[in-house]
Amino acid sequence: MCGIVGYIGHRKASDVIINGLKRLEYRGYDSAGIGLLNGELNVTKCKGKVVELEKRIINSDDTSTVGIGHTRWATHGEPNDVNAHPHWDGDQNFALVHNGIIENYDALKKELTTKGHIFLGQTDTEVLAHLIQEIQKVAKCDFVTAVQMALKQVDGTFGIAIVNKNEADSIIVARKGSPLLLGIGDDEIFIASDASPIIEYTNKVVYLDDDEMAIINRDGYQVKTISNIELSKEVHELEMSVEQIEKAGYPHFMLKEIHEQKETIADCMRGRLVVSENRIVLGGISEVLDRLVNARRLIIAACGTSWHAGLVGEYLFESLAKMPVEVEYASEFRYRDPLINSDDVMLVISQSGETADTLAAVREAKSKGALVLGICNVVGSTIARETDAGIYTHAGPEIGVASTKAFTAQVTVLSMMAILLGQRRGKLNDKYASELIQEMSRIPDKVEQILKQTEAMDEISRLFTYAPNFLYLGRSYNFPVALEGALKLKEISYIHAEGYPAAEMKHGPIALIDEHMPVVVVAVTDHTNEKMISNIEEVRARKGRIIAITNEENSDVQRLAEFAITIPSTLDPLSPLLTVIPLQILSYQIAVYRKCNVDQPRNLAKSVTVE
Ligand code: M6R
Repeated sequence: MCGIVGYIGHRKASDVIINGLKRLEYRGYDSAGIGLLNGELNVTKCKGKVVELEKRIINSDDTSTVGIGHTRWATHGEPNDVNAHPHWDGDQNFALVHNGIIENYDALKKELTTKGHIFLGQTDTEVLAHLIQEIQKVAKCDFVTAVQMALKQVDGTFGIAIVNKNEADSIIVARKGSPLLLGIGDDEIFIASDASPIIEYTNKVVYLDDDEMAIINRDGYQVKTISNIELSKEVHELEMSVEQIEKAGYPHFMLKEIHEQKETIADCMRGRLVVSENRIVLGGISEVLDRLVNARRLIIAACGTSWHAGLVGEYLFESLAKMPVEVEYASEFRYRDPLINSDDVMLVISQSGETADTLAAVREAKSKGALVLGICNVVGSTIARETDAGIYTHAGPEIGVASTKAFTAQVTVLSMMAILLGQRRGKLNDKYASELIQEMSRIPDKVEQILKQTEAMDEISRLFTYAPNFLYLGRSYNFPVALEGALKLKEISYIHAEGYPAAEMKHGPIALIDEHMPVVVVAVTDHTNEKMISNIEEVRARKGRIIAITNEENSDVQRLAEFAITIPSTLDPLSPLLTVIPLQILSYQIAVYRKCNVDQPRNLAKSVTVE
């Protein structure tokens, strides 16, 4: 959801910024821009991807070592050259890039217009630039004070970076609700929305918190609150490596990330799944475990793929730990005055740890006294820092907009939590707990077996490349997998796809089935197998084209399906860790055949930091 990069140091700023924007492009890619300070302030911006911006500046002889850049995901104002960031103030003294939404921009714009301000585009960001200009003119204050005063007048969220030609060799940044961090190098400082643009230069970072700002110049940086209270911030060390954020020979990040799942699931379990002792150790929640074990109920909140993982969690916690669970769309949670109190535990799930709606759910639940736990992938992310305790998924950076390895890592954490809670609540007998723990340790090898079938699936993907619709059906643990399969397909191939609990098909969607409709059934030999077979027969009777994800032992489903993708057998609660993988591969291959931009699908951004 918009990426910001800034640099001040001894390198050519445009190189650092363009390179960094390319790394952040997964956050938004409808337009890009750069502002470079070199005595003068030069702004270049255009519609399209960062490469378009690069073409415009490639031959410039700018040697600037101070600048800011932006890659946009449009909220207010269509993606075009004018609405691209940076935005000038009316006197063209300074330029500003922004991630987030200024919610009261319309009222501010009207007021500023009456004072003679002329706006070139439709963005909320341009209004903020003009507001700072107006405040500085009226209050006759220094620039930093004007920025502080303006930020206090805006409602909404922001991560901003500003360069001002009258404040040479300095950058001002501020955040509220949109992530920003500083990378601290030797005589150089980097600014970025996340760590990926800076990891090749330094592993020392300072995370800005909400309502904080930093004034960065060649001598260093000073962090203060927007109310001007000076702060001393901890410098963190990143564990990320450059290799993790490169494609390693794969044509797309998504394919690389699908293929990493053997390792990411193993990494997620490392040190936590103690097979020899029939034990699970989750250090991140050990101090609050008693409260979790005794909670009245668990409320899981998340968005998108993470919400699907949460639904798998509901089946896991209820079945293995006999714990009442509700799964909420984080985006809806706070809007209905939810009944939650200190007897409850909220568990939020987020790959990025920055999703605005999930963060809002965290704050709502905390304000009502609930213990709030997080399952996050990005270390040091806002949700990871604001939750009371939590568990990292350790899946490494996920760059493809379509979430894959984050989902299986989230489900791995949820499976371990459910087993641990089942044991601690006395609801899981030792024998079954031991079987589950042992079987979890075999999952990475089973994932590898599925990944070896990637080429064999190609034929099915090619055949259905131009199907206009897909239906995905599953039951029990694999109902959320059906939803996830449908989401994967629609987001990267733009094919309309719907996921349903298989039995719900009879209550409406069956009307869609004819000889042209591919119906993907997730049907393993679990306690719903018989019912699933009846559903498959119902689809067959209407000539639907059945693509089954099934396990080795399920000869009935293999016989009934037109196409069967066979995966290794596992215990029912762990099956989503395997069944989802062919669905990820199917959607990837179809999107490639359709010549879609797999890693950067239209209209989407990796991390949705606006509400
Ligand atoms: O970073 P988060 O896990 O909080 O993101 C939630 C969703 O935005 C995300 O899962 C989205 O649905 C993905 N594009 C799905 O592939």
